[in-house]
Amino acid sequence: MNQLPKAESITHQHILCVINTLIIQKNTKDTIRILDAGCGNGKLIAYLHICLHLLHSDKIFHISGYDVQDHGVQSEGFLVEAVNRLSTMIPAVNWAERINTIQTIDQWTFVTKKYDFIISNQVLEHVYDKDLFFSNISSNLIDGGHSVHLAPLKHVVHEGHIFLPWAHRIRNFSSLYGYIRFMSSIGFGKFRKHQKETGCSLNEYSERHADYIYFWTNYSSEAETIDFARRNGMRADFRFSFEFFTSKIRQILKIKRRNIYKPREYGFIDAILVKQLRYLSSVTLVCTKKNTY
Ligand SMILES: C[S@@+](CC[C@H](N)C(=O)[O-])C[C@H]1O[C@@H](n2cnc3c(N)ncnc32)[C@H](O)[C@@H]1O
Repeated sequence: MNQLPKAESITHQHILCVINTLIIQKNTKDTIRILDAGCGNGKLIAYLHICLHLLHSDKIFHISGYDVQDHGVQSEGFLVEAVNRLSTMIPAVNWAERINTIQTIDQWTFVTKKYDFIISNQVLEHVYDKDLFFSNISSNLIDGGHSVHLAPLKHVVHEGHIFLPWAHRIRNFSSLYGYIRFMSSIGFGKFRKHQKETGCSLNEYSERHADYIYFWTNYSSEAETIDFARRNGMRADFRFSFEFFTSKIRQILKIKRRNIYKPREYGFIDAILVKQLRYLSSVTLVCTKKNTY
C-alpha cells in the first residue's frame, strides 16, 4: 500500500481511522457511499477520498457533502471555494454535482441514494435543530449504516472557538459579553492576537465573539446527544472517543500514526471513559441504524 498523505488535522485522521475500522469490521460492499454533513471547506472529503482509495484499492468510494448556507459560521461563497479546491485536487470527479447547499430547516432532498456512512466533523455543536439533523441522517442511512460525529459536548471545559473556558455555558448575552471582555482584558483567549492582526478594540472583539457563541453555537450534553439519535431510530454510543484522545497524544509525542483502530461491537469501556474525556476534548458519537425489536 502507498504511504497515506499527512492529514491537515488530527480530526481528519481520526475520522479516517474510524471509517476504515468500521469498513474492515463489516467487510461488505464494493461501493461505499459516504456523506460529509456540514462539509465546510471540503478538505475532509478530499482526504477521505484519497486515503480510502489507497487503503482499499478493490473498492469504490462515492464521497459527497453538503453544508447549510444560512449559518453564520462560514463566510459567503465558501462552498464555491470548496468545489474549486476539490476539483483542483481530484479533477476526475464532478464535485459540483457532489457538493450540495441547503437551508438549515430543509430536509435532505438532494439525496438520490442512501449512504453507508454519514460523517460530521466539528458540526454538532453548531446545529440548532438536532432532531431534524438526526432525522435526516436516519432517513438517509442504509439499514445497518453508521453515522460518525466528532464534536465537543456541553461538558467540555475549553471552548475551542474563542479559547475561553466555559464560555459556551453562559446563556445570558450580557453575562457572556462581560465574561469575554473581562477574560480578554487580562490576557486570556485570542484577543491579543486578533488585535495585532486586525486592530480591533476590546469592545468590538467582545461583542463579535459573544454574538458568535450566542447565535452560532448550540452545545448539547452527552445524554441529550444520545437522545437525539435514539428518538430518530438509531443506536448511539461514544466508541472511539478514547482513540481520538490517544491519537492527539501520539501526535504530540510524534509516535507513528494509525490507519485503523481495534474493532469492537460495543462501546462499554468507552461509555465509562467518555465521562472524563467529555471535559477535555471532542468526543466521537457513533450511531447505527439498527433495531431488532
Ligand atoms: C466549524 S465548521 C466545520 C466545517 C467542517 N466540517 C470542517 O471540519 O472543517 C461547522 C460547520 O457546521 C455547519 N453547520 C451548521 N449548522 C448545520 C446544520 N444544521 N447542518 C449541517 N451543517 C451545519 C456550518 O455551516 C459549518 O460549515
